[in-house]
Amino acid sequence: MPDNQWNTSLYDQKHAFVSEYGKSLVSLLDPQSGESILDLGCGTGHLAKTIAESGARVVGVDSSPSMIEAAHATYPDLEFSVADARDFSFSTPFDAVFSNAALHWIPEAEQVIQCITRTLKTGGRFVAEFGGKGNVASILEAVKQSLWEELHIKEEPDWYFPTIGEYASLLEKYGLAVQNALLYDRPTPLSEGEKGLQNWIRMFYERPFYDIPEDLKQRVFERTEEKLRDRLFRDGQWIADYRRLRIIAYKE
Ligand code: BEZ
Repeated sequence: MPDNQWNTSLYDQKHAFVSEYGKSLVSLLDPQSGESILDLGCGTGHLAKTIAESGARVVGVDSSPSMIEAAHATYPDLEFSVADARDFSFSTPFDAVFSNAALHWIPEAEQVIQCITRTLKTGGRFVAEFGGKGNVASILEAVKQSLWEELHIKEEPDWYFPTIGEYASLLEKYGLAVQNALLYDRPTPLSEGEKGLQNWIRMFYERPFYDIPEDLKQRVFERTEEKLRDRLFRDGQWIADYRRLRIIAYKE
């Protein structure tokens, strides 16, 4: 999000799949009572809460003040604060750093990994999932083409969707030994039937549409839907072509 101003209630209502899918990542994290765990990019805090139910102490951080405000309001007993994933530090190191669906927003991956390494105890684990190479590729291509065809706007998405090789090399460069790396397709049903794809673009891919009047936006959305319908619309529902990179690594 360019200005970090998320609509947190829409995020929770229409895009609840983000934390629902994240629950399997919490199982992989396997938090233990008494551990300290940093949830990096915690959003509205639902997974921090799931982690805390294990008895671990959780600190949730996010760069968006509106997300942190919502997390505080929903879970007043947990610790949350605003922090930039490219530049954070804590006085006491953590047993684990956890991150779900956040790291693809930050192209400066080396800075993020250096902060993560610094934040972990020796032997501590980094468990993360985010968009990998090819993530939402057909949606991005259809939006790009539609923006050009309707409005002559050139668009280059700037998300960070690395390959296993790229990301594992960076982790190793900064002292994290990769135990497990998986790139897998996770077709993701979007809620609200016919409106699902537009909702997704409005929530997650607003940047190229900021200054565009609603009627012109609508034309771009409709052209995007036309291009994708055969591939991504099934039984009354849009299915986004998510591809995730899942990582488990340890600080050496
Ligand atoms: C994702 O979770 O994969 C994602 C979210 C927003 C934009 C692009 C990708």
